[in-house]
Amino acid sequence: MTVRAPAKVNLHLSVGQRRTDGFHDLTTVFHAIGLYDDVVLARADAPTVTVEGEQARLVPTDSSNLALRAVHLMAQHTGNDPAVAVHIRKGIPVAGGCAGGSADAAAALVGCDALWGTGLGKDELAGLGAQLGSDVPFGLHGGTALGTGRGEQLTPVLGQGSYSWVLALSDGGLSTPDVYAQLDRQRESGPVGVVSNPAGVLTALRQGDAVALGRALGNDLQPAAIALKPPLRLLLEAGRDLGALGAVVSGSGPTVALLARDEDHGIALASALAGQGLCSGVRVASGPAAGARVVEAH
Ligand code: C5P
Repeated sequence: MTVRAPAKVNLHLSVGQRRTDGFHDLTTVFHAIGLYDDVVLARADAPTVTVEGEQARLVPTDSSNLALRAVHLMAQHTGNDPAVAVHIRKGIPVAGGCAGGSADAAAALVGCDALWGTGLGKDELAGLGAQLGSDVPFGLHGGTALGTGRGEQLTPVLGQGSYSWVLALSDGGLSTPDVYAQLDRQRESGPVGVVSNPAGVLTALRQGDAVALGRALGNDLQPAAIALKPPLRLLLEAGRDLGALGAVVSGSGPTVALLARDEDHGIALASALAGQGLCSGVRVASGPAAGARVVEAH
């Protein structure tokens, strides 16, 4: 069983106060893009995980691996044997703010459901996903969606058209808890600029207006990500100087998402940016993309 799951960027991310459970209430607009992890699942003697791809060595293969945790959770929930070999072909940046680990977990939930013929509904899978991470339900959902709560409560967003993105990658990922903790510290020591509400992003999507979408992109975690990785500021500026319609840190970073006018502009932007030496790699992808789905049943 091969399941393909998409990366995400946050078109809007406003972060509220820290809750007593350590999470932050947020309002976000998730957007799935066509940059994928493929997760291959097969019955085996024991649960195992292997990873291939440029950044494979950065992915844990012990019991903390999110895809493996998803297999165990599904097995426990449905009464099946967790003896599944999971193989991840990584296309999504690791620790990049693009929900790569969450995509793997979403893929493993869908894959086990298909492998074992358990036929769980979308809501039940999303409920299990939320136990694994705030972004996992969106990895199942795909498309574009408004996320509330800690990001796990989703409402589909109506939109038209597709958008061309350039992702600028940085070496050395950022830890999501570290970025949230940095934001808490910044807020304790004085006022920090905040993005308003998602209305601008939602209107632009409804109208299919890439120029308006580029202007409306915003992320409360961006100043915290920049504080932890100051060169990100230069990368955002370079993207704008090269003609991107908008530039924003994706989620907790350090990946920067640049909105291009169209696919050709995206390719031109990506190659110009790659030549400037400010990022470790570039990817082009369009969105919205589908959520985790079986692409091959062996
Ligand atoms: O849910 P997930 O495992 O992706 O969250 C990782 C960490 O990111 C949490 O432990 C928390 O520190 C932070 N986080 C948060 N508020 C959210 C989502 C994540 O503080 N809404």
